[in-house]
Amino acid sequence: MSETWTKVDAYLSEVIIKLDPSYAAVSIASRAAGLPDIAVSAAEGKQLYLFAKMSGAKRILEIGTLGGYSTLWLARALPQDGHLTSLEYDPHHAEVARANLARAGAADRVAIKIGAALDLLPTLQGPFDFFFIDANKDDYPEYFRWALKLSRPGSVIVADNMVRGGKVANARSGDEAVEGVRQTMALAGAEPRVTATVIQTVGARGYDGYMLAVVN
Ligand code: SAH
Ligand code: DHB
Ligand code: MG
Repeated sequence: MSETWTKVDAYLSEVIIKLDPSYAAVSIASRAAGLPDIAVSAAEGKQLYLFAKMSGAKRILEIGTLGGYSTLWLARALPQDGHLTSLEYDPHHAEVARANLARAGAADRVAIKIGAALDLLPTLQGPFDFFFIDANKDDYPEYFRWALKLSRPGSVIVADNMVRGGKVANARSGDEAVEGVRQTMALAGAEPRVTATVIQTVGARGYDGYMLAVVN
């Protein structure tokens, strides 16, 4: 099936997503710099853009920058006076992302902070209107707790890679990443301060899914 999913993603990119060339430039420069090919797809990037627009977000927090591909989608959803903070552990990734965002004309709205997210999060001042959680999966439960802490009623929390090719339904995967995602799901499901769902997705990035939550 994955060949069909990729074909349909390519078709959607052409007919409805209508990427401007700056997104391809980010992908090409990131690949050339040796970054792993794990950014969100174009369709998912545009979905993030739309979610941020729909929520009217002015302050966005991203956890896991990589080359800044999702960052660029989110930054472009901001109003003139909006701001995005993105947390990245790997200094090389951060350097590539900064160059990518500068080339795309988005550098003035974005601050990339370098370090382990769990070290950086306590230094941040909330509230943020919108969160995109997309770094190491074993710390997702902590990232979700921090997002709640740095939120206000109406804030939106999106977490990537919540289905992991279906492994999420396996309580005995023995996989740290899957365990992190499962715990996050359980936390969100039991947390009266949020209303949440998880949507399964297919496409050029295979079979995965995202969590969408709003703070009550
Ligand atoms: N959001 C990006 C993809 C992020 S990939 C996009 O869709 O374009 C995950 C990123 O999280 C990687 O760059 C990785 O270096 C970073 N990361 C891993 N562990 C981290 C940690 N503990 N703190 C912050 N970032 C981390
Ligand atoms: C991985 C991480 C991601 O954020 C992603 O979207 C896909 C894969 C990974 O670590 O394998
Ligand atoms: Mg991801």
